[in-house]
Amino acid sequence: MKAIVVTDEAAGTAGMTLVERPEPEPAGNDVVVRVHASGFTPGELTWPGTWTDRLGRDRTPSIPGHELAGVVSALGYGTRGLSVGQRVFGLTDWTRDGTLAEYTAVEARNLAPLPGDVDFTVGASLPISGLTAWQGLFVHGRFQVGQSILVHGAAGGVGSMVTQLARQAGAYVIGTGRAADRQPALDFGAREFVDLDNDSLDDAGGVDLVFDVIGGDIGKRSARLIRPGGMLVTIAGPPEARPADGLAVDFVVEADRAQLSEIVERVRDGRLRTNIGRVAPLDDAVAAFTPTERIKGKTIIRVHP
Ligand SMILES: NC(=O)c1ccc[n+]([C@@H]2O[C@H](COP(=O)([O-])OP(=O)(O)OC[C@H]3O[C@@H](n4cnc5c(N)ncnc54)[C@H](OP(=O)(O)O)[C@@H]3O)[C@@H](O)[C@H]2O)c1
Repeated sequence: MKAIVVTDEAAGTAGMTLVERPEPEPAGNDVVVRVHASGFTPGELTWPGTWTDRLGRDRTPSIPGHELAGVVSALGYGTRGLSVGQRVFGLTDWTRDGTLAEYTAVEARNLAPLPGDVDFTVGASLPISGLTAWQGLFVHGRFQVGQSILVHGAAGGVGSMVTQLARQAGAYVIGTGRAADRQPALDFGAREFVDLDNDSLDDAGGVDLVFDVIGGDIGKRSARLIRPGGMLVTIAGPPEARPADGLAVDFVVEADRAQLSEIVERVRDGRLRTNIGRVAPLDDAVAAFTPTERIKGKTIIRVHP
């Protein structure tokens, strides 16, 4: 089968190559999925799981990309809940070969059924941004109706999902980002917008929850914007500053079938909008991930039509 592989961490996305690899066999609790569409997060090339397995052994050349939408083509002997021919989508294990390939093996529990009226391209764009937003808000952030939330990167992949989910759940949302992100963030449901290059972040102070996707200095400055009893939720690594009288939590997104099903229902009924910037075939994936100009929105690779 055709697959993208990486062998050199220092080379980043420029080190991606399209090669022939053996098709995966269905074993244990895995299903094999014929990948129709695949999502990739550039950050994953810096994560240890891309380069080593759970025992710390080198697993290169490894296939990146951990979001998929496709059709189950084979079942492992211990698989329950899915059948051959079923449309599925989900988030695959970070420490195993991923989804920038014609086929991938994935534990059945990491997948959810993809309704027939949701396109594979849309399905592959949802797992990381949708699950991260859901888990950050409702699981780690313990969101409550009526809270005020500052969402960094509110026009980006995760931030746009957080903004929509929070607004629909009854939050007052303040989005942040670059000047050009103002209107997109307001369109996703933010009531106010802070342009991080030109406005004062401190003016947005006194919120119940900050959802940080940026980290660094912006993460540090965000801790002091949180009301007593509030929370800083970050996906940009361990927080460098914590709220004086509140909690800070950082987490890594996990696969969850029930949450995926909730998210896709919201896409079907129009409550959630995805943020896809470009769709490219697998043969053009390397070029798509090393663009010469900034692409707004997520790049999805259409592996099979
Ligand atoms: N821990 C986890 O489980 C987890 C899960 C998902 C993602 N992540 C990580 O979270 C980060 C965000 O992911 P994403 O998919 O949402 O990325 P994204 O689509 O690029 O969104 C990030 C947004 O923040 C904006 N932004 C970044 N730095 C900024 C700055 N200094 N000032 C103003 N705006 C800034 C970006 O604008 P520009 O595009 O103009 O820079 C973009 O609109 C990535 O680092 C990703 O690896 C972690």
